[in-house]
Amino acid sequence: MFTGKGGVGKTTCSAATALHYAAGGRTLAISTDATPSLSHIFEIDGERPAALPPRLCITEIGGAEIREMWDRKFGREVYEVFSSFVDIDYDSFVEFMTSILPGLGEEFMVDYIRELSRENGYENIVWDTAPLGQTLGLLETPAMLGEHLKMAPRIYSRLKVGRYTREPVLDILRRWERISAEDMAFLRDGVDFSLVTVPEALSVAQLKGTFRELDKYGLAVRRIIINNVVRETDSQFLRTRARQQAPYLEHIRAAYSHLEIVELPMFPQEVKGPERLRAVENYLFA
Ligand SMILES: Nc1ncnc2c1ncn2[C@@H]1O[C@H](COP(=O)(O)OP(=O)(O)OP(=O)(O)O)[C@@H](O)[C@H]1O
Ligand SMILES: [Mg+2]
Repeated sequence: MFTGKGGVGKTTCSAATALHYAAGGRTLAISTDATPSLSHIFEIDGERPAALPPRLCITEIGGAEIREMWDRKFGREVYEVFSSFVDIDYDSFVEFMTSILPGLGEEFMVDYIRELSRENGYENIVWDTAPLGQTLGLLETPAMLGEHLKMAPRIYSRLKVGRYTREPVLDILRRWERISAEDMAFLRDGVDFSLVTVPEALSVAQLKGTFRELDKYGLAVRRIIINNVVRETDSQFLRTRARQQAPYLEHIRAAYSHLEIVELPMFPQEVKGPERLRAVENYLFA
């Protein structure tokens, strides 16, 4: 999973990493950003560029897919129970459920990726996420849902559920609780976190907080990617940038020396299309 502040290069690094792994086995590049750009960066515009390895699968999931998953996994079952005592049509019900439990969508994204990793025979899944704030929400949700569910039996057992006994509701809640715990465990044990940053004040200032947040859930970052590093140059303009970056680079190298740190240079062009992604791959996997 590639995480980091907006615009630092998460999608670029995800795409290059997926290209790399696809040379070795079936690989999925997946984006859970509501405004995804994976297909854009791979230059898939209706047609798939011939330069993309055949073992690379690319997918972007948004609101519609989440909704579909919910339907498949829980929706009908929960609706059956609730509609026995509340007169509500199915669409309004789903809307209601996702509004009272904010983050339900995020929970399902984690669950969805876990399912993909279990059942679809991918050697690797490379996960491109939305900017940090939303992603932290995503990590928080399984934990939050777990908390909510601890209270749930007390709340729901007081409900009169018409011709149904309350058992099915409690069963469903218990099942959610279990899934929530499994999603958390998956994030902990099945996911490698790469944190992408740039050598600038704002990004560097946020690093500490990010580590603290992840740590709260027992999640460890394995690797920091410092993107847009300016190398020696004969341009006065870029020399000034390089000088400005120097203390931030030093700070990251010193403060996170226990982690793998990869530096990715600022390229003269934007990174788009298989060929330029290969150049990024070469740095990430030097
Ligand atoms: N090392 C680099 N050199 C030059 N351009 C870069 C580099 N890394 C990224 N870019 C460019 O910066 C832009 C933002 O990169 P990218 O989309 O990967 O960021 P992101 O973190 O995924 O953004 P978002 O938070 O919006 O999802 C893109 O146009 C990309 O081509
Ligand atoms: Mg992105």
